[in-house]
Amino acid sequence: MDTDAPALSPNAFRDTWCGRVLADKAGEVVRLSGWVHRRRDHGGLIFIDLRDRTGIVQLVFHPDEAGDAAEVAHSLRSEYVVTVSGRVVNRDQETVNPDLPTGEFEVRVTEIEVVAESETPPFAIEGFQSEVGEEARLKHRYLDLRREQMQSAIKLRHRLTSAMRKFLDGEGFLEIETPILTNSTPEGARDFLVPSRLQRNSFYALPQSPQLFKQLLMVSGFERYFQIARCFRDEDLRADRQPDFTQLDIEMSFVDGEDVIALNERLISHLLSEMGHEVPVPFPRMSYDEAIGRFGSDKPDLRYGYEITDLTEVLRGTEFKAFGGVIDSGGSVRGINFGQRELSRAQLDGLIDDAKELGAKGLVWAFREGDGWRAPIAKFLSAEELAGLNSAMGAEEGDLMLVAADQPAKVAAILGGLRTRLADRWDLIPEDSGNNFCWIVDWPLFEWNEDEERWDALHHPFTAPKGEFDPENPGDARAEAYDLTWNGVEIGGGSIRIHKPELQSAIFKALGISDEDAEERCGFLLEALKYGAPPHGGIAYGVDRFAALLAGVDSIRDVIAFPKTASGGDPLTGAPSAVDDIQLRDVGIALRKPPKPASA
Ligand code: AMO
Repeated sequence: MDTDAPALSPNAFRDTWCGRVLADKAGEVVRLSGWVHRRRDHGGLIFIDLRDRTGIVQLVFHPDEAGDAAEVAHSLRSEYVVTVSGRVVNRDQETVNPDLPTGEFEVRVTEIEVVAESETPPFAIEGFQSEVGEEARLKHRYLDLRREQMQSAIKLRHRLTSAMRKFLDGEGFLEIETPILTNSTPEGARDFLVPSRLQRNSFYALPQSPQLFKQLLMVSGFERYFQIARCFRDEDLRADRQPDFTQLDIEMSFVDGEDVIALNERLISHLLSEMGHEVPVPFPRMSYDEAIGRFGSDKPDLRYGYEITDLTEVLRGTEFKAFGGVIDSGGSVRGINFGQRELSRAQLDGLIDDAKELGAKGLVWAFREGDGWRAPIAKFLSAEELAGLNSAMGAEEGDLMLVAADQPAKVAAILGGLRTRLADRWDLIPEDSGNNFCWIVDWPLFEWNEDEERWDALHHPFTAPKGEFDPENPGDARAEAYDLTWNGVEIGGGSIRIHKPELQSAIFKALGISDEDAEERCGFLLEALKYGAPPHGGIAYGVDRFAALLAGVDSIRDVIAFPKTASGGDPLTGAPSAVDDIQLRDVGIALRKPPKPASA
């Protein structure tokens, strides 16, 4: 269906969409309804831009022809809702508006009814100023959503989710809903809790994802499941994170990783093609280790170079303590050649602050000069070391190099973070670089959690290890997992799951989850796996991120109708908010600190 101008059954309000007042309507009398986008008074002649979901059309009120309607037109203000009738005529050549699809026509109104008046909106819908703060936009989101950019973002999102549904339906996937009020699933984030009234002192958790339910559906024999699922995670928010967000969640039985990847490449290329982009499949693949080594990220943006070079061997044995000390303690020194850059001393020092924000103790900047370096620390390095560094980083005369030293994972993250920041600041992403997809594969199964001194699952504890699992060396295990990155954004992630209860128990044990704990948290899964669980695997995509990338906006908030602010609040409804004593008593909760009384 054409979502821009759906089929119309004529009624008392309209027989034509505003955006469809085109050549085929010239000379006809039409009935339109919509919002007053703009009003101009040209000495007796009144022009109204009338807006509905499909676009804008110009109305004209001639004092001689319009009669009472012309009187009414005088009283119209922005965002009034009106129904009008009039004849479609061609505009004079010199008044044609080439920016509007309807710009060659106007409607000479003879009848008008004001359906609803409007107070002056807190910000303009027409000629919206980008400096209107997000708080104001979200407080009056219903008005913000009237703006063209928001209308097209929400329509795009609709087209995306419809295309997802249609494709998966065509491939035999069943859309199955799973509960929102459920138990905690160990996906790594904090849960949102909901107290139960009927079962005192007990809590539901909102799902961080439908992970366990979709696995149970495989045990149930549905074989191909999908859901456009709301997920809830109580984590710190960023431009690409919301506390409640949407996943396209998929699971399949009797498959291996290659089957899941192949289905998903078909899905992604279909979705992008529906949205007007062609992407070649299969997508390239990169191992996790290579992504971290070359780009310092498990979601590398491959649209531009500026890769990381390991300089540890060049500097082994150096007298320069800042590097030598780190190398001696098992760390590494790495750098990026950022090419020819003109930067002031203040800008160069600013880069050190950037690195510190990313967790670095310091950062070395240097320009190649002859065979050596122009850099504050150049004097601490030998001529041979400087030449070796230039050669390792492929530096040419005048190239800027940024170098950091730390433990391997940390220095990778610091340089990876700098690479992303500077790509944005220095405009390093080529205009025509298009859509770059890459599978990140060969993930470690576990990562060491320094603070808690235990192993954590890098994806989730239900991911299958590659080959035999050796509980003596959990750090060596690799996962049957795959993440999809799109222009440096982690758009989706999935894996082949464990389908044998003994292996699942062994993995829980390796993660330091006791038998009792495992029983309490997901005993039902262990139990279900005992009743003939098929091999299965799947993936989930961030629908908000998908839509944001397609819409070309920086924040997922711009593709969500009613998002939360960065501090997790909703200025429109006031959520989260205090609740009254009776509601608390009903669920058996006493607050540790009573809420502050509402200010008068
Ligand atoms: P994962 O945790 O990687 O996997 O989530 C899948 C995708 O969801 C998106 N995403 C988010 N989007 C917006 N706000 C958030 N707070 C947020 N968190 C995640 C990302 C991410 O790639 N159950 C597994 C999937 C599986 O194994 O099948 C899961 O949830 O785009």
